[in-house]
Amino acid sequence: MKSIKDELNLKQKKVLLRLDLNVPLDNEKITDTTRIDKILPTINFLLKNDAKIIILSHVGRPKGKIVNKLSLKPICEDLKKKLDKKIKLITKNLKEINSKDLFSNQDEQIVMIENLRFYQEEEENNKEFAKHLASLADIYVNDAFSCSHRAHASIFGITKFLPSYAGLQLTLEINALTKITSEIKKPVTCIIGGSKISTKINIIKNLITKFDNIVIVGGMANNILKYKGHNIGKSIKEENCDQIIKEIFSSSQKGNCKIIYPEDVAVGKDLNGSAIIKEVNKVCEDELILDIGPKTIQAINKLIEKSETILWNGPAGYFENPNFAKGSLEIANKIVEKNKLNSIYSVAGGGDTVALLNGIDVIDNFDFVSTAGGAFLEYLEGKELPGISALN
Ligand code: 3PG
Repeated sequence: MKSIKDELNLKQKKVLLRLDLNVPLDNEKITDTTRIDKILPTINFLLKNDAKIIILSHVGRPKGKIVNKLSLKPICEDLKKKLDKKIKLITKNLKEINSKDLFSNQDEQIVMIENLRFYQEEEENNKEFAKHLASLADIYVNDAFSCSHRAHASIFGITKFLPSYAGLQLTLEINALTKITSEIKKPVTCIIGGSKISTKINIIKNLITKFDNIVIVGGMANNILKYKGHNIGKSIKEENCDQIIKEIFSSSQKGNCKIIYPEDVAVGKDLNGSAIIKEVNKVCEDELILDIGPKTIQAINKLIEKSETILWNGPAGYFENPNFAKGSLEIANKIVEKNKLNSIYSVAGGGDTVALLNGIDVIDNFDFVSTAGGAFLEYLEGKELPGISALN
């Protein structure tokens, strides 16, 4: 994999820089800027070498439609302040832009193209779309490790049309994860939560052979509870998951990996409501499961206590409402407590998990924090990520 540092002459070269600026937004306000902060060294490196930067990113899942509240505008504003530089957000239809529309003068150094997922061709990895993107620049840099599990046009297809390089943050994340996975100490407990059920549920089966315990919390646990015959009311769930869950449980028995899921939960009538603790068989039709309950927290803490390595991806509940943050906070505090005693190796990953840890200021008490969620899990699975193999 060639690194951007290997490109000797960047002077006045147009660089298409794919970033993951998919930061959590609340009413168009950024609630955690970690993913922006982490890519500043790459942008500064390119600026120092006098390159012209065209930033590409997505935010959210607009599914090929223009969704105003998923504009990159607030992110562009944040980046401008952090770099103390002008950055033009190009909102014109990307398919009608050509290379000379981008920079209005010699001094302009950075432009940002509006959310790539406003175009369905991005996720379809459309060849013409990738070719058109490539026509805007001289070289391509992927500094979005957290998107590299997606074979999308700006991650995968584009590398066929331009000399392609790895960015500084991508290289850093891969090196760290390679080291972690090759030196991992058992027993290993992997905690998987969050709301991206479809992304994560298929990965679990392949993780069973690698870890001693897999703790399933957050949105995905709802599917498990439903599979076990419990009512989950109005909680988020994924359709057609029963077969994969059946396979998860049968592989876990064969593979000697314990699967842990909630034995009690915190429910609410809506996302803004207050929490009521319930046994998993007592959830009503009009309720949402929004966190794990105290018995589950205790069981997870006991496992953490006995583990040598903890890998954590995805919060245990809807932590954006403090009434449903208890499960995630208790997990975080337990890991931090063990980390301070040097009695555990801890790795956390994913946009929401990072936001959670930042919110309580404990990021530095983890051995490694990856910006990646789904990509982090697929990497642990041992899969070659399309965005990485494309750079190879
Ligand atoms: C992430 O947040 O993990 C990346 O930005 C990828 O987002 P996606 O799961 O919507 O593809």
